[in-house]
Amino acid sequence: MKYNPNVHDCAAAPIAEAWSWVEDGNSPDLIDMCQAVPAYLPPQPLLDHLAEAIRNGEGATYTDICGIEPLREALAENIRGRYQGDCQADDIIITAGCNQAFCSVIDTLCQKGDEVILPLPCYFNHQMWLSARGINTQYLSFNPDTAQPSVEEARTLISDRSRAIVLVTPNNPTGATYSPDCIEAFYQLAKEHGIALIVDETYRDFIDYVIPPHALFEHNDWRDTFVHLYSFSKVFSLTGHRTGAVAAGPGLIEQMQKVQDCTAISAPHAGQLAALYGLQHLHDWKLKKSAELQQRAALIKQAFSHAELKYRLICAGAYFAYVEHPFDSKSREVVKALIKNFDLVSLPGSYFGQNQDKFIRLAFANVHEKHFDEVINRLLQSQSTLEL
Ligand SMILES: Cc1ncc(COP(=O)(O)O)c(C=O)c1O
Repeated sequence: MKYNPNVHDCAAAPIAEAWSWVEDGNSPDLIDMCQAVPAYLPPQPLLDHLAEAIRNGEGATYTDICGIEPLREALAENIRGRYQGDCQADDIIITAGCNQAFCSVIDTLCQKGDEVILPLPCYFNHQMWLSARGINTQYLSFNPDTAQPSVEEARTLISDRSRAIVLVTPNNPTGATYSPDCIEAFYQLAKEHGIALIVDETYRDFIDYVIPPHALFEHNDWRDTFVHLYSFSKVFSLTGHRTGAVAAGPGLIEQMQKVQDCTAISAPHAGQLAALYGLQHLHDWKLKKSAELQQRAALIKQAFSHAELKYRLICAGAYFAYVEHPFDSKSREVVKALIKNFDLVSLPGSYFGQNQDKFIRLAFANVHEKHFDEVINRLLQSQSTLEL
């Protein structure tokens, strides 16, 4: 059999590869800071509601391509509340997770040879999908002092083949939240050039809930430029139910339905019911979990202030800490050695694009803060014992 060279040349799926370096996944000593998954199940009332709905046969059917109407309405209302702007049910397509949302949006906007701008470090699945599709990625360099992408640099990269700029905020892998001004500047740049600004806000519920993350939904003409990507995976602990969403203008929604029809047909129905229950009933639960995560981010920052630690915390927030390691070695070797010798699982910076070998990503959301001192202990031991 012959394979698509674009797929063949893609790196292996990162989380699976990092896990293949772990010898005993059940070791009680293992500290798993690898994949970004909520460390808790959805609350019991959601599980009971879903069980009842499924028993009644409710989740067993396809839905409309764009998703069930009450969920589209509830998400539009959630967006209006969170962003103090305008969004209606017609602006929403429910997808099979936020990754699938990204893939469909890209397929709707781009053909082979087109260009998409991504800030470094970038979310590996975005990069993989673009290269699998033969779309050229233009990278914005990483400034570890600010962890914010430069709009001026983006301006220099725009060409006739540019179709979109992609931002992820709060960011995976750095944990940085981009300022509303930064996001606005990217929006204006995209608008000026008639291209899309795609903002993946998978982690938007894990930062301050009072201040709107940006003002893009307030623009009367946001639908001509802005594409909001969302995930129900983390906010309601529904990673396995594969439910996400796109908010965009009527043109993109109309074209994207063709892609959705060919791929997902509709997002999983049971996941849509679960997400709807979450939006309707779990506001307080969500705020509580968000406060816990924000507290955990503060505690990981404090843990990294240890005077003897040579690992430097670049940034932390939402689910992630991005850390500069002290070795003159590739990040894969550092991660492998930390797994082998210290039972600590993280991800190499090299998974997140070029020039990231100095860094590793720790998904601190997975680990209770009572283990943070132990994480620091193991890092301290590693810096004095590992010969890399
Ligand atoms: C930035 C970002 N987008 C999308 C996803 C995937 O979300 P979903 O589970 O909704 O596909 C992740 C998961 O790690 C992510 O970090």
